[in-house]
Amino acid sequence: MRTVATVADLRQALAAVRRGAGSAGPGTGEAVVGLVPTMGALHEGHLSLADRARALTRYVVMSIFVNPTQFGPAEDFERYPRDLARDGELAERRGVDLLYAPTVEEVYPGGDYALEVRVVPKRLADRLCGASRPGHFEGVLTVVAKLFGMVQPDVAVFGQKDYQQATLIRRMAKDLDLPVRIEVAPIVREPDGLALSSRNAYLTDAERERATSLSLGLFSARHAFEAEGVTDPDRLKARVRGTMRDAGVDPEYVELVDPDTLEPLAEARPGAVVAVAAWVGQTRLIDNAILGLKA
Ligand code: PAJ
Repeated sequence: MRTVATVADLRQALAAVRRGAGSAGPGTGEAVVGLVPTMGALHEGHLSLADRARALTRYVVMSIFVNPTQFGPAEDFERYPRDLARDGELAERRGVDLLYAPTVEEVYPGGDYALEVRVVPKRLADRLCGASRPGHFEGVLTVVAKLFGMVQPDVAVFGQKDYQQATLIRRMAKDLDLPVRIEVAPIVREPDGLALSSRNAYLTDAERERATSLSLGLFSARHAFEAEGVTDPDRLKARVRGTMRDAGVDPEYVELVDPDTLEPLAEARPGAVVAVAAWVGQTRLIDNAILGLKA
């Protein structure tokens, strides 16, 4: 695996791959270049995205960049976990061909204020997480658009864990006719249900226990829909809230939404998404479940 930190080195490596002169990766897929964007502190969730990319493409690029423009002023940009040496080992062992780990200056030369043009989402970005994180999805979409421009991937893989993010990225690719196929891979969980997240590292032991109430609440709502036929959104949301309340966790939101528009639904149906966000101590966690499907 090679590691590069500049757009110039990235382009050079990829040009060689596209000419067929470089060492194509071990993947067996038809498409040439796959991209897995991450902010590092890699865990099995990130690595499962690399597996998916490798199955679909011949050459897998993973980016590691803690993107300052998607963090609010009071958020955890400074203390976000960073360990490039460890991440590099994990990525290499998982068959990533090229690790792209640029500096902030490389991605935002002259500082973020130097960007004249950004990707500004509309309504999809105002609901769910967008309601409490103004500007967050603008930062995400702008950096993902830049990564698409830098890597020019045939396929890019994202996680269902960040459901709203994946929906917005799909929509960006569609609305801007970007020539990239967006793949969304299932949520990887701990054995007790907690969705893997780099931010789980912030949790104390007691918080870690309470944090399982997000996934347990979602599973309870999914069970209510799938096994008991409950379709009333209020009853389904009450399952999630009840499980969390019993664990002493106060949700920021619990919503039952349409999988594409993220609009609240009047009645549950297969494919609908139950999404939740909550603060556990100083840590904001999110999770979701698709009704009628395992995730
Ligand atoms: P990050 O939080 O590092 O996540 C990188 C990718 O891993 C995202 O697509 C996310 O949905 C996926 N992921 C995280 N936890 C997962 C889990 N438990 N199971 C499956 N996939 C999981 O999301 C970002 O970074 C950034 O916003 C980024 C897209 C890189 C733009 O800066």
